[in-house]
Amino acid sequence: MGTDDNLKAAFAGESRAFMKYLAFAAAADKEGRKQVAKLFRALAEAERIHAQSHLALMGQVADSEHNLSNAIDGETYEFTQMYPSFIALAEKEGNQRAVISFRNAMAAEKVHGNLLTNLLEKLGAEKESDYYVCSICGHTVAGYAPEKCPSCSATKEKFKQVS
Ligand SMILES: [Fe+2]
Ligand SMILES: [Fe+2]
Repeated sequence: MGTDDNLKAAFAGESRAFMKYLAFAAAADKEGRKQVAKLFRALAEAERIHAQSHLALMGQVADSEHNLSNAIDGETYEFTQMYPSFIALAEKEGNQRAVISFRNAMAAEKVHGNLLTNLLEKLGAEKESDYYVCSICGHTVAGYAPEKCPSCSATKEKFKQVS
């Protein structure tokens, strides 16, 4: 194990902590524990800084053309290999909630692959528009929020505008 492996491991660990602390902050908000929520959000921000510092040293962040290709590879791996095998095993184990969670993600990753590919193909001549993300399943749409999420059937208000 060299430092390159350790950077990878540290990036993975910090990324997990970032996500976990944001979830913990949301849980604290629900309980009305404002100070706990604030601390978790502050720690999440610090872990984000650590994760991005490690990632930069791994040579993973390049120009947008390369970053779009990199992201397409990641999304494609997820929806063609990772999630199909995860879904098959969850079905075999009868873990229906995991099946649904994996299916939601797989459907979204497919759309992400398309959004990334479309933008890469048009890069330099793209039209600017906002994106809308379903807060239930992560389905992502360019330009408008649909009346109903095509993936999980959530209503329009569930979509979060990202600009
Ligand atoms: Fe994705
Ligand atoms: Fe959805």
